[in-house]
Amino acid sequence: MLQYNQGLVRGVVLAGGLGSRLDPITRIVNKHLLPVYDKPMIYYPIQALVNAGIENILVVTGGRNAGDFLRLLGNGREFGLKHLDYTYQEGEGGIAEALDLARHFSRGEKLCVMLGDNIIEKNIIRAVNAFRRQEGGARILLKDVADPGRYGVPRFEGDRMVAIEEKPDAPGSSYAVTGIYMFDDTVFEKIERLERSDRGELEITDVNNQYLAEGTMRWDVLDGWWTDAGTFEGLLRASQHVSSSGANKL
Ligand code: DAU
Repeated sequence: MLQYNQGLVRGVVLAGGLGSRLDPITRIVNKHLLPVYDKPMIYYPIQALVNAGIENILVVTGGRNAGDFLRLLGNGREFGLKHLDYTYQEGEGGIAEALDLARHFSRGEKLCVMLGDNIIEKNIIRAVNAFRRQEGGARILLKDVADPGRYGVPRFEGDRMVAIEEKPDAPGSSYAVTGIYMFDDTVFEKIERLERSDRGELEITDVNNQYLAEGTMRWDVLDGWWTDAGTFEGLLRASQHVSSSGANKL
């Protein structure tokens, strides 16, 4: 293993899965290559990581037409990067399964993981810098939403976050756990301990709950708008937000 550098954070964009919630528009085109206003969806999470000062980025692709990512993004020159790493997820076994593919890329360093369908308005550099200074553990970003039951939702006892529930019928708070997760390298041991959920996936929420249980999870509330563009409404909302206020200095 290379030398552990506490200040260094590597980026991972998860763009695997089949995007079946957007059928039929994802039948031919990979979800993360669909347009969000004037750019392919995947541009936004990559730019968000670059804006947070992250220079080493892995794109986890999957599903159909994965080769298109290479043709589109190349070595990331458009984002001011010298290089982009790629890997391919077979099937759609969940966010934590896709993240497990970053094991070699991580080199024991901290990771900032962003889901390929999450689009944000503001720079997350403050939270990422806080994680750079954090001793280890994890850090997540929450957003107050009208419909928390569609997301991972934290439950609190007083100020203390005690659990995260995935798409609960009775949400424990009005916060969604956004698809921006910061983890130390113990994340891979935690993924090894996971069992598949009822939807047959290795759930990122179960990873987060392990950090909560060991008392090493921190959280911030995200500034500015946030949208998950993985549904028809979310996709439309993403284009509307970007066209009216721009996204995270693309
Ligand atoms: O957007 C935030 C939400 O994302 C969180 O609040 C939830 O806790 C989290 O589980 C996730 O929920 P979704 O059900 O919306 O995740 P979805 O299956 O739509 O996947 C989101 C992205 O994750 C997708 O655009 C690419 C990546 N992914 C997903 C799966 C299932 C992969 O890379 N591989 C996969 O196998």
